[in-house]
Amino acid sequence: MSKFQGAILAPIPAFARHLLWKIQDLAKVEFALDAIKEFIDGEKIAIGYGKKLVDLLGIENNQLKAFHPPVGAQRDIPSNEYDLWLWIRSAEIGELVHLQQLLESKLAGLFVLEDVVQCFKYKEGRDLTGYEDGTENPVDKDALNVAVGDMNDAYAVLQIWQHNLNRFHSFTPEEKDLLIGRRLKDNEEIEDAPDSAHVKRTAQESFEPEAFMVRRSMPWSDGCSSGLAFLSFEKNGMNAFESQFKRMLGLEDGVEDGLFRFSVPIKTSYFWIPEV
Ligand code: HEM
Repeated sequence: MSKFQGAILAPIPAFARHLLWKIQDLAKVEFALDAIKEFIDGEKIAIGYGKKLVDLLGIENNQLKAFHPPVGAQRDIPSNEYDLWLWIRSAEIGELVHLQQLLESKLAGLFVLEDVVQCFKYKEGRDLTGYEDGTENPVDKDALNVAVGDMNDAYAVLQIWQHNLNRFHSFTPEEKDLLIGRRLKDNEEIEDAPDSAHVKRTAQESFEPEAFMVRRSMPWSDGCSSGLAFLSFEKNGMNAFESQFKRMLGLEDGVEDGLFRFSVPIKTSYFWIPEV
């Protein structure tokens, strides 16, 4: 029996890696997916297909598209198309090393591993700025309905943000709270925060239609740079993400999200999430 991938609804693990691949041998795509099939449980190893793979496999009625920076964006928003995404998750980095080696050996000559993003849980699930991330996530049945839906048609957005923590720490505690729109000390929302506050930009019920998503973002670091690997799931396409991101960029009202004062997106990719 096929079912949706459990990682979508599971809490974030202590460690995870995003393994991002491109097709190497066009003629052997199905063979490659068969080679890793037995390891994809949707929990420890979750899988997503990029646009090229969806097209090659002839998957019908699919809403996946390639990411393009929104029209009118005043910033450089790099897009990155990958054909395959494997999200490996564990309580230990050592296990991730072994899972990655296993997957690389199975996919050798078939897919090329183009990028690896090493993620970790910070404290009880905070961004590296210290702010709690995920508070307004839908839970239980609501999460299932938002991310997967009745048709099990789930999509993911992976957007890697690189923080400038020096710049972030040049702000006073009050300024930091107003960039986010929540107080660091108790996570309470600040009612009179400016329109640029991140949680005001992204308030899910303030969109028409409402723009709900399930976020499973985690901090990342490569030892030199760091930030947030934003990861969201929604059913039937990328509409919620696109509405929110446009507003974050100021494309609705000229007001840019406070996050841009210390962080920038350096990679954005869309994936369709098959059943397992
Ligand atoms: C540097 C990158 C980002 C950081 C550090 C960040 C951090 C946060 C924090 C601290 C919150 C408040 C707690 C919570 O409800 O989770 C939040 C809320 C939220 N963020 Fe982000 N976020 C980032 C990027 C994004 C992006 C790219 C989107 C979507 C395009 C997004 C969508 C949301 C949504 C939907 C909420 C909940 C809003 C609500 O309904 O109250 N975030 N984020």
